[in-house]
Amino acid sequence: MAVKVSYLLLLLVAKCFGKPSPEDSLPATTTEPIPTESFGNVWKLDVQGNYWLFWKTNASHVIFETHVKTKGYVGFGLSSNGKMFPSDVVIGWVDSNGTTHFKDCHTEGHYAPIIDASQDWFLLLGKEDNFGTVLKFTRKLDTCDDKDYLITESTVKVIYSYHPDDPTSFSSLPWHGAERRGTKSLMLLTSVKANEYVPPSDAEQFDMLYHNYEPIITPGNEDYVHHIVVSNCPNATDADKDEVFECYGHRPKHLECNDIVIAWAVGGVAFDFPSNAGFSFNTPGDPKFLLMETHFNNPTMKSGIIDSSGIRITATQRLRQYDSGVLQTGAIVNKLQFIPPHEKNFLSRHSCSQQCLEKALVTQQNSMKVFATLLHSHLLGTSMVAHHIRGDVELEPLAQDLSYDFDYQDARVLSKEREIKYGDSLTIDCHYDSTGRTKPTLGGLSTAEEMCLAFIYYYPKTEISNCQSLPLYDQLGSNPGHNVDMMYSWNWQNQDVKAKFQDIMNKTNVYHICNSPTHPDSTNYQQNMYRVPEPRTKYTPPPRQCPGSQ
Ligand SMILES: *[C@@H]1O[C@H](CO)[C@@H](O)[C@H](O)[C@H]1NC(C)=O
Ligand SMILES: *[C@@H]1O[C@H](CO)[C@@H](O)[C@H](O)[C@H]1NC(C)=O
Ligand SMILES: *[C@@H]1O[C@H](CO)[C@@H](O)[C@H](O)[C@H]1NC(C)=O
Ligand SMILES: *[C@@H]1O[C@H](CO)[C@@H](O)[C@H](O)[C@H]1NC(C)=O
Repeated sequence: MAVKVSYLLLLLVAKCFGKPSPEDSLPATTTEPIPTESFGNVWKLDVQGNYWLFWKTNASHVIFETHVKTKGYVGFGLSSNGKMFPSDVVIGWVDSNGTTHFKDCHTEGHYAPIIDASQDWFLLLGKEDNFGTVLKFTRKLDTCDDKDYLITESTVKVIYSYHPDDPTSFSSLPWHGAERRGTKSLMLLTSVKANEYVPPSDAEQFDMLYHNYEPIITPGNEDYVHHIVVSNCPNATDADKDEVFECYGHRPKHLECNDIVIAWAVGGVAFDFPSNAGFSFNTPGDPKFLLMETHFNNPTMKSGIIDSSGIRITATQRLRQYDSGVLQTGAIVNKLQFIPPHEKNFLSRHSCSQQCLEKALVTQQNSMKVFATLLHSHLLGTSMVAHHIRGDVELEPLAQDLSYDFDYQDARVLSKEREIKYGDSLTIDCHYDSTGRTKPTLGGLSTAEEMCLAFIYYYPKTEISNCQSLPLYDQLGSNPGHNVDMMYSWNWQNQDVKAKFQDIMNKTNVYHICNSPTHPDSTNYQQNMYRVPEPRTKYTPPPRQCPGSQ
């Protein structure tokens, strides 16, 4: 799979960027639905714009509102795999007398849904308007009905369908057909809130685009632009300004900038910082030059694609109370991350050590207030967890996605701010399904290689930007690269080989980086080796509040 990387270096202060023209902020069409109240989240589920979903959540409930361009029936559901079944669905329509019919159902096969014995999705409103059919309904996140999907912060596949006609009853639904249905991955609980942000009147917007933080993707290139990372380049000079170059092999040494400022990946939308924190530019110690790195994915090697996608940054002179930072945790991107083939659920475990976080926080009085996270792995990734450990007690995870979807990656805004204190450590777990591979998969930048990264967005900013680790497989020899080459040639079908590797993984020493590329002179943190520690007490989630459950 070919992944090409290009860089664009931008001098933030010297360029004159105009305010966006008014047309830019107008909706693309005037045929957008009007929600019945203000919802924090909105998503157009199909490209044609026939099916819109609005929703909002609190600690126990979610309220959905669907606006669908039809006067017939509407189906909506939640599924862990995006397939028609098994899934939790509701069906509704407004009949010619204006009466709304609505039922909580589930699917058991490729046939019409079955009405649940326990009705746990409740209709709040049903009507037809100029756009089409509006259904507003609510349910508990955990309905306690095993026919219903349990809503968590993991990525959920929303499924949808509609039909031009009203059925005569729930047992005689006409088939929606192959076109009037689809699936979309969403994070219902932690999604970045859409359409709410109004920039302050003195805001300036910087567009980092080729030839010339909100993703601006060239229309038609949505499948090819894989992810964009913007990092601070402390050693860049005016001579590097507006430089565009291909990466890896062509990248000047002084532009190896790893201090990530903005990370956007497939599926992400615009991101706004909390009202008391912002990313500071252009005061002493701040980024002055930014480097934008775009990773393209073009597995079929289609030619002639021209892309000018990039990121829009909104800036203001009115500073917020705190400067925010991004801590990059997980695996160092390197071939020392080793994933054997033929594994259904391989765990790659990486650490951000207590020693490193103590260096970041300097004193016991300081802490990092975490407001968002972004999890990133590649095609084999199935689930990812950022564990948070205090002393030897594991706390609630900072981020957890048990159904990670490579095609839908977005920052997760935490429902409540979390605090990393002096003495805490993090363990980043990535689970991979490598049953489709016959050769080992190594860590690396291309989509066919793997990553295990958790970006932690927090304030106030510390000096540390990278807190990452990798196993050394030092039982095999003192040169880790040779160790990996050796393991690469092993017969991974052999059970003894698997057991030997498991033993190595259980006992290997770990190489750890704790870096501050922003201040290369003021700090020189040592890179130490240690084993990833296990907390004595594991986190247990609060019990489900269900009748009959213990
Ligand atoms: C959460 O939302 C539901 C549905 O609107 C509502 O009934 C419930 O009172 C809300 N809970 C809290 C704690 O606000
Ligand atoms: C509408 O109401 C009339 C009178 O009650 C009834 O005969 C008819 O069946 C209703 N239509 C539908 C679609 O329910
Ligand atoms: C910047 O330059 C310093 C001094 O030459 C060097 O130690 C440091 O690694 C450089 N940083 C980057 C990100 O290139
Ligand atoms: C490795 O550690 C895991 C978890 O602690 C344990 O279940 C397993 O038996 C160990 N395997 C070997 C080969 O030491």
